Amino acid sequence: MIRVGVNGYGVIGRRVADAIVLQPDMILAGVVKVKPDYKARIAVEKKYNLYASDEESLKSFHRSGLSPKGTLEDLLKEVDIIVDACPEGVGAQNSRIYEDLGKKAIFEGGEEHDLTGLSFVSQCNFDDAKGRRSLRVVSCNTTALCRVINSLDRAFGVKRARAVIVRRAADPDETSKGPIDAVVLDPVKLPSHHGHDVRTVLPNIDIVTMALKVPTTHMHLHSLIISVKEKTNEDKVRDSLKKTTRVLLVDSREGIKSTAQVADLARELGRPRSDLYEVAVWGDSIKIIDDEIYFYMGVHQEAIVIPENIDAIRALTGGYSKEESIRLTNKMLGIIEG
Ligand SMILES: NC(=O)c1ccc[n+]([C@@H]2O[C@H](COP(=O)([O-])OP(=O)(O)OC[C@H]3O[C@@H](n4cnc5c(N)ncnc54)[C@H](OP(=O)(O)O)[C@@H]3O)[C@@H](O)[C@H]2O)c1
Repeated sequence: MIRVGVNGYGVIGRRVADAIVLQPDMILAGVVKVKPDYKARIAVEKKYNLYASDEESLKSFHRSGLSPKGTLEDLLKEVDIIVDACPEGVGAQNSRIYEDLGKKAIFEGGEEHDLTGLSFVSQCNFDDAKGRRSLRVVSCNTTALCRVINSLDRAFGVKRARAVIVRRAADPDETSKGPIDAVVLDPVKLPSHHGHDVRTVLPNIDIVTMALKVPTTHMHLHSLIISVKEKTNEDKVRDSLKKTTRVLLVDSREGIKSTAQVADLARELGRPRSDLYEVAVWGDSIKIIDDEIYFYMGVHQEAIVIPENIDAIRALTGGYSKEESIRLTNKMLGIIEG
């Protein structure tokens, strides 16, 4: 059994913790929070071992009536590996603590590639994690782009990928970022960082991205134009993406015409928190003009990186092939196979 700790129990950390509990080969040793809020209380109700981030935070937990088992440093003594799901930049500060205690560590997409030297997407580079001490699971948008581009590259050879990313302005509980009424060019100066980030996983892909922020919390929506080397047709592209793990084809003829219906589909599937771990590609949007494939896809930002985090734990600790890990993670999370 792999003993895993989760430092940071927010949007990503809570989901990673719940996913760890579902795995037959993992034990959730504990979760770490700064504030003694409702999320901390519910973690205790779920019988998760709760830890405070440091001595200061520990005092505020005691004042609130919650009794954590100790601090992050105490949890680290109990684990084989730590998943750091702290806000952007905090993971980099924590990395020294993990290193000093000789603990393997997984960081999230808010951290820089150089922190670990390996940016990870299961189906692209699982084997590169073997024998390493740490890795970075890339961001939600980068994960989605890598899954799809890697699949098309293997099937048809990608010459060039271009993407316009329409981003959700905030996660559902992030009231500090709203309300807003605008389409924000993010960034104005092009390209956006996403293309560069894809190349940390798929270094040989020619990719340029642009991004805008819109007032929604559900999902991101990507418009893609991918030019390929091999002559193909729309059915072949659909078939290829359908067979790709963690890519789900949706269809406007079934009434799915927006991110709202994709989110509703996830609710209908009965997923915890209505999470959609798969990239939702509109199969009937796929169009080929000359050598370019055009299509839309939706990305549930809160959920898509959860299966990668679970595979990353196995990739760093060893004992599983890529295929075995992906299959097991998919089964335990109820991910639909193509
Ligand atoms: N949100 C997304 O859609 C998304 C998608 C993909 C990747 N990511 C990446 O995942 C990582 C975590 O993002 P998130 O959205 O899960 O963050 P979040 O919801 O803000 O949660 C962050 C967690 O870290 C804890 N924390 C530890 N040290 C902290 C400190 N010094 N300051 C503030 N909080 C601290 C917080 O504790 P308290 O709860 O006690 O405040 C909270 O539990 C980031 O690298 C992010 O870029 C996020």
